[in-house]
Amino acid sequence: MHAYRRNIVITGGSGFIGSHVVRLFVNTYPDYRIINFDKLTYAGNPENLRDVENAPNYVFIQGDICDAAAVNAVFEEYTPDGLIHLAAESHVDRSIEGPEAFIQTNVLGTFTLLEAARKHWKDRTDVCFHHVSTDEVFGSLGDEGFFTESTPYDPQSPYSASKAASDHFVRAYFNTYRIPVVITNCSNNYGPNHFPEKLIPLAITRIQEKQPIPVYGKGENVRDWLYAPDHARAIDLVFHKGKRGESYNVGGFNEWSNIDLICLLCAIMDRKLGREPGESQQLITFVTDRPGHDHRYAIDAGRIKAELGWEPTVTFEEGLERTVDWYLANTAWTDHVRDGSYRDYIRRQYKEE
Ligand code: NAD
Ligand code: TYD
Repeated sequence: MHAYRRNIVITGGSGFIGSHVVRLFVNTYPDYRIINFDKLTYAGNPENLRDVENAPNYVFIQGDICDAAAVNAVFEEYTPDGLIHLAAESHVDRSIEGPEAFIQTNVLGTFTLLEAARKHWKDRTDVCFHHVSTDEVFGSLGDEGFFTESTPYDPQSPYSASKAASDHFVRAYFNTYRIPVVITNCSNNYGPNHFPEKLIPLAITRIQEKQPIPVYGKGENVRDWLYAPDHARAIDLVFHKGKRGESYNVGGFNEWSNIDLICLLCAIMDRKLGREPGESQQLITFVTDRPGHDHRYAIDAGRIKAELGWEPTVTFEEGLERTVDWYLANTAWTDHVRDGSYRDYIRRQYKEE
């Protein structure tokens, strides 16, 4: 049997960002065994990983991070040297509709993983628990200023409150039990495999089908967008070289109001679909605002740049072009998600609850 130099567990690897992280690690580190531990909720889609699922250094385990027995079994079987934790409920609107699943997975699930790390890693210092979090834990900015690593936590939605709670537990396990941890707090991601409930993939599919594009409120809210493969590169760097016990902000240096972003997307898609300039913009429909809608997120990513040399490699215009091209070339992916048949694939490959 191949002896791998390191065993790395990635939770939530079948989701949007997780699939980019799994792909990067499987391809970059053939001497690591990558164990993707994912429950395959509605957001988990094995089609995201078709290109690496047969790689010799890739293992998939369907499991729930809240299930201590299943998590301990992974630690016992693979003796992981590192854990990169992305599994989460990730959609703010869903957290407003039903916060409980967010507390369950994001808080209790993270706690369950930390407990397993404490039990199995004991005094090991050569291991790393990398917690992947969001800039939304810092709350909402006015028109000026940026989130830094020392910005006080001020989460406003059930989603961000659950992520903030999990960040605090991760720090507490470093301070109390000396588990080597790192945290990354990243801004909004976009790119291939993004579940079409989120703004950018939702708008792409609506434009394709000439359906209304729902813009909350006046579309004046601002987000800082980062191409997901660039986030995966940041995770790779911080996992390997980040100072243990510390956190790093990751962002795109790329702020857009929702309305300007949608107009840019409409222009790109008009061109690609051979429509008249301005045609898709007519699909924009202003709808009731999200309750407690955070006004602005903007990351100061100066620390990761100065200490680890990380910068985004893909400009927003380039990343959006690539993302639109991916969705136009992969209509089957969206169709399977929307008609539910991606669950058939899961049923065939793995056990369905
Ligand atoms: P996603 O919703 O696309 O994927 C989540 C994945 O976690 C899915 O594969 C799902 O099956 C899995 N999962 C959910 N509950 C689970 C459980 N109980 N046990 C095991 N697996 C479970 O999420 P995403 O957008 O890829 O986000 C990944 C991580 O990055 C999350 O922790 C999120 O908070 C964080 N993050 C996301 C963004 C963003 O813009 N999407 C930005 C910053 C940070
Ligand atoms: P989203 O993609 O849900 O990410 P987050 O809430 O985590 O930032 O939303 C991005 C922005 O787009 C946010 O300001 C809410 C807004 N939005 C809309 O205007 N319409 C939509 O249909 C959605 C899903 C989001």
